[in-house]
Amino acid sequence: MTDAPDLEPIERASIDELRALQLDRLRRSVRLAYDHVPHYRQAYDAAGLHPDDLRDLADLARFPFTTKADLRDNYPFTMFAVPREQVVRIHASSGTTGRPTVVGYTRGDLDVWATVVARSIRAAGGRPGDIAHIAYGYGLFTGGLGAHGGAEKLGCTVVPVSGGMTERQVQLIRDFRPDLIMVTPSYMLNIADEMERQGLDPRASSLRVGLFGAEPWTNELRATLEERLGLDAVDIYGLSEIIGPGVAQECVETKDGLHVWEDHFYPEVIDPLTGEVLPEGDEGELVLTSLTKEAMPVIRYRTRDLTRLLPGTARPSMRRIEKITGRTDDLMIVRGVNVYPTQIEEIVLRTPELTPHFQCHLERAGNLDTLLVRIERRADVTPHAATAAGERVGQLVKRLVGVTIGVEVVDPESIERSVGKMRRIVDHRRG
Ligand code: DLL
Repeated sequence: MTDAPDLEPIERASIDELRALQLDRLRRSVRLAYDHVPHYRQAYDAAGLHPDDLRDLADLARFPFTTKADLRDNYPFTMFAVPREQVVRIHASSGTTGRPTVVGYTRGDLDVWATVVARSIRAAGGRPGDIAHIAYGYGLFTGGLGAHGGAEKLGCTVVPVSGGMTERQVQLIRDFRPDLIMVTPSYMLNIADEMERQGLDPRASSLRVGLFGAEPWTNELRATLEERLGLDAVDIYGLSEIIGPGVAQECVETKDGLHVWEDHFYPEVIDPLTGEVLPEGDEGELVLTSLTKEAMPVIRYRTRDLTRLLPGTARPSMRRIEKITGRTDDLMIVRGVNVYPTQIEEIVLRTPELTPHFQCHLERAGNLDTLLVRIERRADVTPHAATAAGERVGQLVKRLVGVTIGVEVVDPESIERSVGKMRRIVDHRRG
């Protein structure tokens, strides 16, 4: 709804206005990084580049990428472009091994962050005065506090529950009657299960909108969540290195991918192998550049997230990213075929005898990697019928993805539950 009265002026700007703003901000951001962060100065000097070489937005493609390894090498604080005393908040993403990736925020950065999250909640259908139940984890993870700052800025009544204690989540939803919930889609499923366990109808809850993100999820899971909970399920994307949640957001009226808030974050999609910038519409790795961050400007950060850039719709000047299909880290190569957990999710969710609770187990047999998908059956379906359904999942994966996998249908409640990001892949391979 581009004529909604409550949009920020930049959400209605023309593409030309937006590009002019981006170029101005990009130049300042690269200059800030070059002048104050040794990593960028060394990288750009080595490449024979200078911030003055940025004459138009396309020149950005000449600049080197920044990777997670660069951030780790500068652990903890040497990526900061301001004196540490001006950093009022630290977050960190744990990763699976080694040092965490540390990010810092000035007061101004926190304000930008709250602004983009408030804008995201509004795009999702949230309004001032709504009650917002926040079940993303609070702490070093950016989900909880990021959602919190944005919901407060929009003027919501914020319920900062954090993740975990699922029974209490249900009690608070029942008693406080929130309009919105912000939570990972996998934990939302667990909350819905708990509602049913307590004899409550999830569709009868007060929840009108869910802002689901922090992990890949499919349109099939959207349909499941909307049907089970009677709400609008919309996608929110972000990563700590760039700011946290609120980098891109799906609009509730179109649900057609996520608008990147391009006045603050500049997107590119590259070929992950060659690093070449791909044209709009081609799938590749998303690369993001912060345009307004002060404490830790990030130039051409390789997100490892796979998607495509598409033209704007509900916000015509802001490009969209398609729902993230997966992370390059989650790529499973099974008998030479590339498989992402989202491809499995799509098929599992089309199988009514089975629940959305599944996990991919990677094993090695000789020189070949094999994939065993464990899926919980629904409690009201017999093991016999569920096993037959599991066989159908295997056949569909073979037909649609082109790879032979093992499928094991297991009893309800036997797959680990997460209160935040779900661990979709369990890797049993050695060496
Ligand atoms: O997950 C920030 C966030 C919190 C986003 C709450 C949305 C909601 P990190 O822990 O740094 O930050 O993890 C970032 O999570 O690179 C993606 O791989 C994945 N991710 C985040 N949002 C989505 C999404 C937060 N909507 C990493 N769809 C990113 C798919 C997502 N993947």
